[in-house]
Amino acid sequence: MSAARPVLTLADWRPHATPPSDTLIERLERGAVLLFPDLGFALNDEEQALLDPAWVDRGRKNVSLTPLDGHLNGISDPGARRIASQLLERYYRFSLNLLEQLFVAYRGNLHHPTTSLRLHAIANWSERSSWRKDDRRLHIDAFPSRPIHGDRILRVFSNINPDGQPRRWRLGSDFESLCRRYLSDQKGANPLHTWLLAQLKITKRRRSDYDHLMLRLHDRMKADERLQEEPANTVDFPAGSTWICFSDQAAHAVSAGQFMLEQTVLLPVTAMQDPQRSPLAVLERLKGRRLA
Ligand code: SIN
Ligand code: FE
Repeated sequence: MSAARPVLTLADWRPHATPPSDTLIERLERGAVLLFPDLGFALNDEEQALLDPAWVDRGRKNVSLTPLDGHLNGISDPGARRIASQLLERYYRFSLNLLEQLFVAYRGNLHHPTTSLRLHAIANWSERSSWRKDDRRLHIDAFPSRPIHGDRILRVFSNINPDGQPRRWRLGSDFESLCRRYLSDQKGANPLHTWLLAQLKITKRRRSDYDHLMLRLHDRMKADERLQEEPANTVDFPAGSTWICFSDQAAHAVSAGQFMLEQTVLLPVTAMQDPQRSPLAVLERLKGRRLA
């Protein structure tokens, strides 16, 4: 079963325009993708020169910045590093501003920002990526090394393709039906295993049962050929557009495109308008116990 109207297009909204209504936050929390078709993020001349996958370090998926400490990864050339830092820092401010204007209730609650510049063409991913890392397969986002204990993964994306190429996604079923399909037999984490992972610093802190289940859901979805072949809603995000979703909830897969900026922030479940819509609450209802 597909979610009704998985993409909400907001063609007329402009930053600093009419304050958006509560229905926007409700749609987001129900798992919709909010698309701003004309809200572009413009690059200056120096930044345009970064639009070449040759800048990305070998074996890296993208260039990333943790804006709060300025730590930059995935790019080595000193001149390109300076420009990439400036670009990602600008995008961080742009997207945080956007989120805080749209979702007033989330202000002051968005934490652990990470920003990325994705330069590789999706069409070239096949040889370089294992199925588990292959975002062309339908999935929900879950972090293997960074347990989040129920916090939401909120993401802003901007297509910065200079040649007008859209970024194409497929969107899948609603979160609860995916949990019923893939997690009904799934137990919680093995405590010895999660303790060891944390001791060995493979994970940044101990994985909760929530993190364990979300990773299982991510993996089982990506591994399931049948799911990958089922009809899904295809959506083109035009060059010069921006879109937002809770990517831990909205099942998604990328099928085409090149050059994108992406901002991740985490949000505590308690800061949601309706915490009952969180993946944590859905999973706790299905499992009948606390998971984080
Ligand atoms: C993702 O699957 O989280 C990223 C999709 C994309 O690269 O467009
Ligand atoms: Fe993803």
